Amino acid sequence: MTEMTPVTDTSLATKAVPALPDAQKVTEVKHYTDRLFSFKMTRPVSMRFRSGEFVMIGLMGDPNPETGKVKPLLRAYSIASPSWDEELEFYSIKVQDGPLTSKLQHIKVGDEVILRPKPVGTLVHDALIPGKRIWFFATGTGFAPFASLLREPQTYEDYDEIIITHTCREVGELTYGRDLIEALKDDELLNEVIGEGFWKKIKYYPTTTREESPKMGRITDLMRSGEAFEDLGVPPLNPESDRAMICGNLAFNLELKEMFEDYGLVEGANSNPQHYVVEKAFLD
Ligand code: A2P
Repeated sequence: MTEMTPVTDTSLATKAVPALPDAQKVTEVKHYTDRLFSFKMTRPVSMRFRSGEFVMIGLMGDPNPETGKVKPLLRAYSIASPSWDEELEFYSIKVQDGPLTSKLQHIKVGDEVILRPKPVGTLVHDALIPGKRIWFFATGTGFAPFASLLREPQTYEDYDEIIITHTCREVGELTYGRDLIEALKDDELLNEVIGEGFWKKIKYYPTTTREESPKMGRITDLMRSGEAFEDLGVPPLNPESDRAMICGNLAFNLELKEMFEDYGLVEGANSNPQHYVVEKAFLD
């Protein structure tokens, strides 16, 4: 009788077994300010998502002092990479005493991050009816879903004009978005797939509120005064031509929603596509 090799034991010993459930490997980390960083990780081959959606990601928490048990600490994060990308990118705030981001900000290439591969969200093209111009309104890390949608071919197929406004406290907080938009010009793949010069459809409108920059003020105030429309050379939003997506802090989302209702825009959802959709930034 031939002796059977204990296959399971051998394969376990030679295979790298992820230390975390649903673990993905970090492939890149970039720090922008003491409050902001971005990172990339591997993407499960089977994971599909629509540009603009979010997933739950995180790390194992500290052991429970009584039982010694550890539980995953997960938060919703917008996927900043487009749906066609091989990797997943995220853009995050760092909160020094935040349960997750106090740890997450220290991740390095090769580390593992938990990813629950069940993407959901309302900032998707499916939740909007056809229009001429799309507006992306972001504050802070709320830029993340738009980093995905700005690299999504459908955005340019569906609209003649794409306006992205980003309001941050300080100039350094604009870097991630500014660099990303700048890089679109030289992106050979996107210029080939979407069409040479596709990025000319984008109007980028960055503003700061607490540090001097070429355009100061909250986007909401700049719209109310008419200054933003004048700068951009477009009329105020109207239900015939304009569609919008909002992603920022809660007060910002609510204020814009109110303004949109005054413009006559109706909030949409996956099940009921309309003129605009809202998502709040997922802060620690
Ligand atoms: P401000 O500095 O005037 O509060 P945060 O980092 O707190 O999430 O804020 C990000 C940016 O969003 C800041 O520039 C902040 O401006 C701005 N902001 C906060 N609340 C609103 C709001 N209700 N409408 C427009 N912008 C807002």
